[in-house]
Amino acid sequence: MKKILLEFLKFGYKTLFLPVVKKGNSFISSKIPKTELSKIHVNNAKLLTTREELLSLLPIGGVVAELGVDQGDFSESILNITKPQKLHLIDSWGSKRYNQKKRTSVENRFSEGVKEKSIEINIGLSTEVVTNFKDNYFDWIYIDTTHSYKTTIEELEAYRTKIKPNGYITGHDFILGNWDGLIRYGVIEAVYEFCVKYD
Ligand SMILES: C[S@@+](CC[C@H](N)C(=O)[O-])C[C@H]1O[C@@H](n2cnc3c(N)ncnc32)[C@H](O)[C@@H]1O
Repeated sequence: MKKILLEFLKFGYKTLFLPVVKKGNSFISSKIPKTELSKIHVNNAKLLTTREELLSLLPIGGVVAELGVDQGDFSESILNITKPQKLHLIDSWGSKRYNQKKRTSVENRFSEGVKEKSIEINIGLSTEVVTNFKDNYFDWIYIDTTHSYKTTIEELEAYRTKIKPNGYITGHDFILGNWDGLIRYGVIEAVYEFCVKYD
């Protein structure tokens, strides 16, 4: 607690706008590169109310991946709304919160689809599992893993060539952070950088 207060005192209100990484009991600020968008990058932008609305706009019957599955609640929505011909559920389930118990529950929950080969569970880090897929394979993917700048930019780069030319890269938590847990995300910065780099 002392360390958190010291961070706040040191940076004042700006603490909220700095990248803050939790290490042990302290919060460390690290620089996240900032890129500015041009008008061309938001020309076709649409504001959506929910992620279910996003699903309703995506192609039906596609080849799809969800990066970061947890216990499969959103996987269920993907299945119900977009009826993919193939859904890859990619997760490492390697932390205390997102653990092997959750992996087992996902394996049980989607066992029917796995048996029919319409669902494949790919266990491992998203940036490692990616080597299993050939180029131009996915119609769309949904990114929802750590939300850090580093992981997000690595995922965007790694999956870029795996998406079909008219495919979509979608994702969750396009926000600055989780203020309840005092965790600074880097999703916005990674997405901006990626958009500018690849137009
Ligand atoms: C926020 S949860 C996903 C929630 C899920 N998409 C939903 O909406 O119900 C994040 C998940 O990402 C997984 N994860 C975190 N980092 C990962 C990485 N680098 N590669 C693969 N999975 C990761 C965690 O194990 C966890 O299950």
